[in-house]
Amino acid sequence: PTDAARDATGELVVGGVTASALARDYGTPLYVLDEDDVRSHAARARDAFTAAAARHRVAARVYYAGKAFLSTEVVRWVTDAGLAVDVASGGELAVALAAGVDPARIGVHGNNKSVAELEQAVAVGVGSIVVDSFQEIERLAAVAQAAGAVQPVLLRVNSGVHAETHDFLATAHEDQKFGFTLADAAVAAARVRAAAGLRLVGLHCHIGSQIFGTAGFAESAARIVGLYADLQGGTDAAEDLQVLNLGGGFGIAYTRVDTPTAIEVLADGIVDSVAAECAARGIRMPNLAFEPGRAIVGQAGVTLYTVGTTKAVALEGGLERLYVSVDGGMSDNARPALYGAQYSARLASRVSDAEPQLVRVVGKHCESGDIVVDAEYLPADVAPGDLLAVPATGAYCFSLSSNYNFLPRPAVVAVRDGRSRVIVRGETIDDLLARDAGILPTERTA
Ligand code: LLP
Repeated sequence: PTDAARDATGELVVGGVTASALARDYGTPLYVLDEDDVRSHAARARDAFTAAAARHRVAARVYYAGKAFLSTEVVRWVTDAGLAVDVASGGELAVALAAGVDPARIGVHGNNKSVAELEQAVAVGVGSIVVDSFQEIERLAAVAQAAGAVQPVLLRVNSGVHAETHDFLATAHEDQKFGFTLADAAVAAARVRAAAGLRLVGLHCHIGSQIFGTAGFAESAARIVGLYADLQGGTDAAEDLQVLNLGGGFGIAYTRVDTPTAIEVLADGIVDSVAAECAARGIRMPNLAFEPGRAIVGQAGVTLYTVGTTKAVALEGGLERLYVSVDGGMSDNARPALYGAQYSARLASRVSDAEPQLVRVVGKHCESGDIVVDAEYLPADVAPGDLLAVPATGAYCFSLSSNYNFLPRPAVVAVRDGRSRVIVRGETIDDLLARDAGILPTERTA
């Protein structure tokens, strides 16, 4: 929601519902998801990549990266828009299946999938499994053979491109846990091709997250196309290798200083660079796949908090910072503490004529790093009982949430056309106590 999304009284409105109505009906902290926003970003990503691919007469499949935010409702919204689903654990797979996703439209990720996870994925017939290590190739081959299945497989390849630092010159010695190095990939491909229970259908590469420009994707794609060409033997003979999955990572705006590239521009840039590289190598262009998570749900979420206390703290030079404490914090949004992520905050329950004052919005956890919004201007009369809205919390907030300090995790409410409904129930303290094997149910009081 932007500042424009306010009703006549100055209240913040999401999906046609005022912040105070949401807080009254469901309490705070509260995750609010704008359903139409998720649906339209899913459709936009689908259109951007399929149109870019169609210009080169190939197909593109867009997977929603469920790790960004996963619930059955959200899965239905994105699959309604034509997206496939990428899952990264047995739990994520279970949610996708519970939502009724066609298993053929599920891709499975993970650098350490358990045998049980592999067995489940093969048993339900997922469309593809992205293999991440030599040991996993053997493990999956055994699982598939035991099940009498031939499992389509992509090789996860580490292109050596550091997206975050824009250090495109990094070599394939990149020191991280995912995938095969470019040097190992040919041997890995040979092992998959030799395994009776596996069918090599493509290559996969994901260079990072919250990326704004096309250059890193383009550089990575060029390297992967090089590998693809080598694995094809320079001809079209290797009919098995059909798809290049270039992952996700498309950035969104969290604050005013963020300037992400439009998804259509990214899609065109990435796809064109794959086409150019294929042309340069004289090979037929493969079909493409992408896995946006944040770009689908990130901007659709807003977290509502209630202010509990405010405290003016003197800084050097006669300055003063107002600490505004809210009723959640790093348990519902770990990103500031984990990555120094920046957010913004707005007074949601009223408008104020008071002068803007520099504030730091903090949570209620017992750590000084428990920051929600590091620096923001809010009306100086912000006071206990006010509602604050923190936009752009749709991705990696709910999914990274915890029970630190035994805070129950907030509910998720979907809003659309002036109506709201719970799509994930909030936890109660009883839910948390129920897991403590040292407490008899009869002793529970909360
Ligand atoms: N595909 C693969 C293989 C991935 O590992 C990821 C994200 C995605 C797709 C989706 O990336 P997206 O489009 O959402 O950027 N917790 C971090 C982000 C971690 C991303 C992990 N992998 C954060 O809160 O910023």
